[in-house]
Amino acid sequence: MYGDIVILSGAGISAESGIPTFRDSDGLWNNHRIEDVATIEAYERHPEQVHDFYNGLKIDLQKALPNPAHLAITELQNGYRNGTVSVVTQNVDLLHEKAGNRNIYHIHGQIDQAVCMNCGRITDARGEVTTETLCAGCGMAATLKPNIVFFGENLLRMIEVDALLDKCRLLIAVGTSGAVYPANTFARIARYHGADTIEFNLHATVNSYDFDRHVIGRAGETFPRFVKELSAEK
Ligand code: APR
Repeated sequence: MYGDIVILSGAGISAESGIPTFRDSDGLWNNHRIEDVATIEAYERHPEQVHDFYNGLKIDLQKALPNPAHLAITELQNGYRNGTVSVVTQNVDLLHEKAGNRNIYHIHGQIDQAVCMNCGRITDARGEVTTETLCAGCGMAATLKPNIVFFGENLLRMIEVDALLDKCRLLIAVGTSGAVYPANTFARIARYHGADTIEFNLHATVNSYDFDRHVIGRAGETFPRFVKELSAEK
């Protein structure tokens, strides 16, 4: 039996809810250049284009519903008695919240927030944000950026996440390609501190060697089955 569990989720867990991933054939990064919509340079060069991209993505993400993989996390969090179950997600959608998951750490930010580049205030941004939108903190216009970590920016909540990785005894990666640093080092860090590691994906990934066990298949099927197995262990 394990102690604390960390679930590291990627776009693959949301793919089961109809949200495109980033690097699969129909992925977001195959239809948009990262350097056009996901870098600070892009935001400074053409903020309107960056706002348009995320305003459009926001509509799709907010329509999506959690799938059995998200719901299985809530089941695990409700039933697991040997420690805490934390969700460290690279996803900016809110499907973990919609599924009732707790202890969620959005390390790449979240689609329903904006951050002011002038005063740093993070505000609710469920609606459309443009260069005309005023910051609720300092009242300035053209200073709001989606509260999404762009390439080259620091991740969010990493002090707390580092502590989780040190302490957990099981790290489970669900639906991530392992393409992006530093999330792709979390399994190695957890293993260094004595955790078992399991990877749930459609196929092997670039950092599969960091995992003790590989569960191949669609997360909406494989992960609920795993939660049932774990719950049966006494
Ligand atoms: N079940 C399980 N795994 C799946 C499923 C599914 N139904 N569908 C896709 N996958 C897997 C793919 O095989 C792939 O390994 O999910 C992974 C998605 O990989 P990416 O598109 O690279 O997404 P992710 O790993 O979350 O990307 C990390 O990169 O661009 C940045 O900030 C962005 O958070 C993102 C980060």
